[in-house]
Amino acid sequence: MDQVDLKMRLDTPQASPPPERKTVSVTFQPAGVTYEVPYKETLFEVAVAAGVEVDTICGGNGSCGKCKVRFETDPVAPKPIDYVHLSGGEIQEGYRLSCQVEACQNMVVSVPPADSRVNVQFLHQGVQREVPLQPNILKIYIPYTHPRQRNGVADWDFVGRTLPRWFQRVRLPLYWLRQLPAFIRCKEGMTVVVAGREQVIRLEVGDTTAHHYGVAIDIGSTSVVGFLLDLNTGQEVAVTSDLNKQTAYGDDIIARLSRAQRNPEGLQRMHELIIDQLNAIVQRLVDEAGIETQYITEVTIVGNMTMHHFLLRLDSTYLGLSPYAPVIRDSVVVSAQELGLTVLERDVPLYVLPNIAGFVGSDTVGVMLASGMHQSEAVMLAVDVGTNGEVALGSKARLIACSAPAGPAFEGARIKQGMRAATGAIDHVLFDGGDVRFTVIGTVPPKGICGSALVDITAGLLEAGLVDFSGKLLLHDELPSSVPPILRKRIVETEDRRDNYFILARAEETGAEKDIIFTQQDIREFQLAKGAIRAGEMVLQQHMGVDDDDLDEVVLAGAFGTYIDLTNARRVNLVPEVPIERLRAIGNAAGVGAKLALLSIRERMAAERIGRHTEHIQLSGLSDFQRAFVHAMRFPMYRRTSRS
Ligand code: FES
Repeated sequence: MDQVDLKMRLDTPQASPPPERKTVSVTFQPAGVTYEVPYKETLFEVAVAAGVEVDTICGGNGSCGKCKVRFETDPVAPKPIDYVHLSGGEIQEGYRLSCQVEACQNMVVSVPPADSRVNVQFLHQGVQREVPLQPNILKIYIPYTHPRQRNGVADWDFVGRTLPRWFQRVRLPLYWLRQLPAFIRCKEGMTVVVAGREQVIRLEVGDTTAHHYGVAIDIGSTSVVGFLLDLNTGQEVAVTSDLNKQTAYGDDIIARLSRAQRNPEGLQRMHELIIDQLNAIVQRLVDEAGIETQYITEVTIVGNMTMHHFLLRLDSTYLGLSPYAPVIRDSVVVSAQELGLTVLERDVPLYVLPNIAGFVGSDTVGVMLASGMHQSEAVMLAVDVGTNGEVALGSKARLIACSAPAGPAFEGARIKQGMRAATGAIDHVLFDGGDVRFTVIGTVPPKGICGSALVDITAGLLEAGLVDFSGKLLLHDELPSSVPPILRKRIVETEDRRDNYFILARAEETGAEKDIIFTQQDIREFQLAKGAIRAGEMVLQQHMGVDDDDLDEVVLAGAFGTYIDLTNARRVNLVPEVPIERLRAIGNAAGVGAKLALLSIRERMAAERIGRHTEHIQLSGLSDFQRAFVHAMRFPMYRRTSRS
């Protein structure tokens, strides 16, 4: 090496080796899997990334108290938030909230079963609406004709001459144009698959017109439901559902949105989770029906605005920031290949129904379409109760909609012993004969309370006189004399008399691990959630000048709306004060909307009109909403004596 080279080498700053990133090892039991993880990563993040199922509702922000793990090695010191959610005994036993534990030392932890993630109750069925079968995708068989009989006519011209007049306008993409000579000379003939009477999406050998299927998908924040429909008959041939895999990052949609906003990989992760899930759902549908995937020719999808953006991997940054502008409102058509639905043929079109605005997405369009309110003379109010409660009001003359920020209490979050509607959840409560009875999902002792039971308990406590119109759980010396002694004994006053509670199920009577209680704070959380929904309804009613008496029908969509007791929903002021016969549950109406758009091009056009013409009322910052919210938090003062 000469002098110059050496000098250059000496002058060139040597890149210092990257500092070694410290890692520690974490073992999760009972799976017995060990990971080397970055120093100070939270246990919750490690578990989610590794696919270890840790229970959560809040997605790791420390508010749900569900993510506990038990240390098998020396536990880290508890944090103040651990004391909020865990009992003294649990802390002694080495339990900690995994979202609060930073991996600073090698550790072995055991993860309790994620009760609220197994055997979750899903809703498949919804209101029926008969529509003429008119799918967007058509299959047309063209029998074989010997080339000599075609007298030298160009292949594509010959196809056009064989088919009805409208076919003259149909385009054939270059990919299929290149395949056409081979297909048209097949002795079995060929089937042309046409989308929207505009474009050929596929050529198939032989007559495949008897095999014509489509998939409709409802992507909810909590569940994803897929339906396989026979497009020749309109019949549903298979249905399947799953807990939305994004719930590993929290039930609260805001938690998922903020993760996608603050972390560049967050959006990609949410997108990948839903795409993987859709691939799995479609595969399950075809397996169940015993058909071949190649015969699926179209997919329609509904979802709330956040799910819509995650599905299409659209920048969701501005969705979570006032004034909550989505990237697109119109419907979107993409191919299976573009979106990564590898289980389907690459050219299968995916039609994502239009959104309305703000957080009111295509699932609400689906609900409105299924309810028929867009063509109704009668004035209808449609309510889809969820983390964001969507409310729509109107008739064929005018439609308005809003999204009410209910929060995840209906999913059991922020309720001391709340849980999803899964095995072990108390789902219905009846105050009867001076005491209280309840039903549990599955044949197991009760483990917690799900959303439908919140409505029942609150209504029952109001009727029995244990809670007043403001939502206060009355103390022993405040109870009216009419309260039966058994119910009195169920009220427990805490030392500071602040978070008193009602014992719903005693451990010794039910075989439960501990008493299932409903606290004063739970009532407050329920009031906030139902108050937001009712306030949304009230604002829409004011906006349109519609009193409760003017409402011809109130329909409740979604799982929650289906499983709750409608009389109790009215008693707690979740829905307007209308006669019970005007209240109706319409099941998974969003899913029905997706099915209608799959079966009928006319229904699809109606969905487009609903998306375009529904007025959106933005509730946040609206003084009318604040006023209505204060009012809607309260409970009606009367005590109902009949269920009419
Ligand atoms: Fe840890 Fe909710 S408190 S995930």
